Order: sequence, then C-alpha cells, then structure tokens
Amino acid sequence: MTTLEAIKYVRGELQVLDQLKLPHEFVYDNVSTCEQAFDCIKSMRVRGAPAIAIVAALALAVELEHKKDGRKCTTQKADTIKYINSKLDYLMGSRPTAVDLSNAIKRLKKKSAATAANSLTSDQTLACADIRLSYIEGAEKILEDDLTTNLAIGRYGAEYLRRQQMPVLSPVDDADSLRYFTTSPPGTQGAPDRTYRKLSVLTHCNTGSLATSGHGTALGIIRSLYKMNYLDTAYCTETRPYNQGSRLTAFEMVFEKIPSTLITDSMAGALFSRMKEEKNISAVIVGADRVARNGDTANKIGTYSLAVLARHHNIKFVVAAPTTSIDLFTESGDSIKIEDRAQTELMQISGAVVGKDGKVDVNNTARVAIADQRINVWNPSFDVTPHLLIDAIITEKGEVVRSSKGTFNFKSIMPERW
Ligand code: MRU
Repeated sequence: MTTLEAIKYVRGELQVLDQLKLPHEFVYDNVSTCEQAFDCIKSMRVRGAPAIAIVAALALAVELEHKKDGRKCTTQKADTIKYINSKLDYLMGSRPTAVDLSNAIKRLKKKSAATAANSLTSDQTLACADIRLSYIEGAEKILEDDLTTNLAIGRYGAEYLRRQQMPVLSPVDDADSLRYFTTSPPGTQGAPDRTYRKLSVLTHCNTGSLATSGHGTALGIIRSLYKMNYLDTAYCTETRPYNQGSRLTAFEMVFEKIPSTLITDSMAGALFSRMKEEKNISAVIVGADRVARNGDTANKIGTYSLAVLARHHNIKFVVAAPTTSIDLFTESGDSIKIEDRAQTELMQISGAVVGKDGKVDVNNTARVAIADQRINVWNPSFDVTPHLLIDAIITEKGEVVRSSKGTFNFKSIMPERW
C-alpha cells in the first residue's frame, strides 16, 4: 500500500476503512446502503467532516446505481426526488456539528431537482434514470473536488507559514544545515535565495487522508510543509477522549515518515514554554467542522484550549478548512450545535494487547474500563474557538487573515456566496 485511503469508491461500490480498528488492523467495510453509511458515521468507523459528507453522498449513489435495472425502480420523477430527499434527510441525522454533510446534502438535492425540472423526456422511466445518474455524478464530484481542494489548502498553508518566518542572516554551518531550508519565495524571481529555520507545528485530532478523500486539511498543510522541506517536527496531540490523534494522526505521520512526536493534550503548554525556541514552534494548525460567518470555529474538543495557549505563547493559530466548511448562515459560534457523545468514550478504551515481550498482538484486541463506570461524564465532541483567537483561516482559495479590527473578510475569497 502506498497511500492511505479512508474511502475506496468505484461506481456501484463503496468501501470504507474501519478507523476504530486502526492502527492495529486494516479492514475495509462494504457500504452499499444508506443505513450502513449512517451506522458507519454514527459509530465513527468513518469520521472527519469531509469524509462523513463523502461517505453519506456516495452511499446513496451506490444504492441508486443498483436500482438502475432493479425491480424497485421508481417510475415517477417525483417519486425519485422524494426517495433521494428522504434518504439524504435520514443521513443528515448521523452527526450534527460538521457543516460539510449538510452542504453536500443541499448541493445534491438541488442538482437532482434541477435535473428533474430540466428533463424533457415524457418517458418517466428515462427521466428517473437521468435523475439517478445526475445524483451519482454529483456525489462523485464531491469526492473528486475534495482532493483538489485539500492539495490547494496544503500549498497555501505551507506558503503562509513560510512567510511568517524571518530569514536567517548569518550563513548556516554545514553541521546545522538539516535544520534550515533555502528558497526563493514565489513571486520574487531574480531575488537571491533566502535561508530560514525549518519550523515545527502542533496539530490536534485527525484531519489527514483518513478524514478526507486524501492529503487532508490541517494535516495536508503538514504534508506540504514536509514535501517542501520546510518542516522540522509535527507534534500531534493524543486528542482525548477518542484518541484520533494517537490512533490516526500518529499512524498517518509514521506511515508517511513525517518527523513527528506525539504528546498528550495536557502537554501542549509545557511544549510551548519549553520547546518553542529550540524547535521553532511556529503554529498550531487545526481543521474545522464548521466556521461561522464571523470566523468562530467548531472543531474537535480541546481546540479552544490550544488556541488560548497559542495566544499566550505568541504562536500562530491557524484553521485549515475548505470554503464549504464556512457557514455564512451561522452568524457566530453560539449557534453551532455541538454533538454530545457516549459517556463510555471517556470511561473505556480499545486497544491491542501488549505481550510480556513488549510486542503488540494485533490479533488480540480488547476494550478496557479505565474509570469507575458509575461516574457521571460530560462528553461534548467539539468546542468553539472564538474568532479573535484565530490568526488565519486557510482555504483552497487562499488565506483569510484576521484583520486589525478582528474580522475575517470571507467576501474576498467567495464574493459569489456573500
Ligand atoms: O469527531 P471527529 O473525529 O469526526 O472530529 C474530526 C475533527 O474535529 C476534525 O478536525 C474536522 O472534522 C476536520 S477534518 C478535515
């Protein structure tokens, strides 16, 4: 295997990597119905805002593809639209916080309705087939667009972070050269190359290939930093309670040989105060489940605490998100619905058993209680970082930097949606 894929799709067939089994087992589940997709999302076998939307959209595409010549084929245009809408409404109930799912659903409903309205054929069976095909193509486009978007976010993010670095003035001696990179910044043709210290970043949760169609958002920026030779170390938090950082991000980093170090969430303050200078820790980079119109950002629980710490230590706090995660209909973070999850996520943990010889037995996994099972638990899955703590939001259309007035001018990157 050369690339990590959370989602494998060819028309009529969808396979989803079971992320609850990672990093010990690599198992793909077939998802051929919306009910299976709902269950897969709800149980977090697939997770991450873009991946959730893609799996939901494609599961219905698979169902519709199989209906093509099946007995259950509906013959009225209105029935087909009703069927599509009801399945999408059902999928909408799987996880509420990320806007990607509701955006994908709106986009697909609109496309199907437009195909129905524009269909000229009087043959209802043909018209239904047109609607189904239009839906399938729309869902496939969501998958395709996500990868292009992430690659652009990666490039813009890496360049944004490079621009925050001061060139080093004194020549770098050879022994130290691995800690530096030399580049001619884009748009400065003819200017002499400049030398910079490689930079380190901290990321939270998992925003990589496993959370998207590939490359990732925040982790996509880290991938790009690494490919451009700008990266010293990527730190990743464990991300309690569900450990997306230690189970998934650590796995992605090791898989891609990105220089990386795992910390618990509670170590971030110590990391910033003790290692900022030595490792040139330049930014905290996180993804987003929903960015409100004012820039407030909902993301994995613990993001807000990292933003406060970053501000205290004068470290940039950067959100990486596709423009589809910017929800212009939500004025501020106060209106974002935060998903509460099961108490067991805090009280129990899954893992592979470690033998007396220290070896991990991947065939022997267990769920273990780590707290008194009678304790009350509060388990919000996400928190909201106020926009004033965010320095920049990197999208596929470029960066939006917080202005001196504390605002984010999203109109500059998406005037058509304003
Ligand atoms: O609960 P999860 O694992 O779905 O939460 C994921 C996150 O919070 C991610 O940071 C976010 O969805 C962005 S993924 C590109």
